[in-house]
Amino acid sequence: MERLGVIGGGLMGSGISEVGARAGLDVITVEVSDDAAKAARDRVTASLHHAEERGKIDAAGIEETLGRITFTSDLDSLADRQLVVEAATEDEPTKLELFGRIGRILDEDDAILASNTSSIPIVKLGAVSGRADHVMGVHFFNPAPVMKLVELIPSLTTAQQTIERMKAFVSDDLGKEPIEATDRAGFVVNSLLVPYLMSAIRMYEAGYASAADIDRGMVLGCGHPMGPLALSDLIGLDTIRAIGISMYDEFKEPLYSPPPLLDRMVDAGLLGKKTGHGFYPYG
Ligand code: NAI
Repeated sequence: MERLGVIGGGLMGSGISEVGARAGLDVITVEVSDDAAKAARDRVTASLHHAEERGKIDAAGIEETLGRITFTSDLDSLADRQLVVEAATEDEPTKLELFGRIGRILDEDDAILASNTSSIPIVKLGAVSGRADHVMGVHFFNPAPVMKLVELIPSLTTAQQTIERMKAFVSDDLGKEPIEATDRAGFVVNSLLVPYLMSAIRMYEAGYASAADIDRGMVLGCGHPMGPLALSDLIGLDTIRAIGISMYDEFKEPLYSPPPLLDRMVDAGLLGKKTGHGFYPYG
């Protein structure tokens, strides 16, 4: 793989673009508008400067990495890509439309089209793409440049060769650790994580304890690096809500269903760290 396309330059898309560029790939990142493309570039730049502060990259490396990424609003520019990772908003109609379009745009018969979705059926994305055997899930974790894990999710229609190529790409080219999961909403990690986060939000809503004490409970009592409400803020409350709804649709387990407080916070635009306010305020 030499030419990577990324659709969406939000939290995850910008991180995946950075990971690809730092691995030496030529990257094109597509957003909904020129302004959004510029915001994606700013996100990658800020993340690279953060890495510089931690001694992981120097000024020349930052320049080189940014030089490998083109930020644009033109989806057609992805035509020559060997791999496209879709990381747009967690919304099924949006992703179905994108997969229908990009399936027709890609020139190379062998190009792989992957989704970073957390909960939307991969088989549906494959079906609308017209190249279902070359479609699979590739689920990075936040922040993508730091987190080692990548879940690989083949669907019923993914070819074995596509799985093998993605496995090799993720581990050999990107230096990540893949695990494989079946095409069920939530895969491995979110199936365990989302009920836990929803329970913490329900606990806070019911007034069991303050947000800070719920989080301190899990950090100090269970050795987690951060508590469930801080983690929800980091992931994005709109994203968690969308994942919970898809998981509830799939399994009808009340544990996955978003509590009313989460609905109200999303309606209010309190989406967590990315909007400056969620369960906590951010400067
Ligand atoms: P986000 O809200 O930060 O970014 C989504 C981006 O997609 C926005 O910048 C939006 O402008 C863009 N977008 C929407 N429609 C588009 C289109 N038609 N073409 C191009 N760009 C479009 O969301 P985030 O967190 O980056 O999530 C993206 C995907 O990654 C979702 O599927 C989510 O489930 C998944 N994911 C999220 C994680 C997290 O911790 N936030 C972790 C792992 C996966």
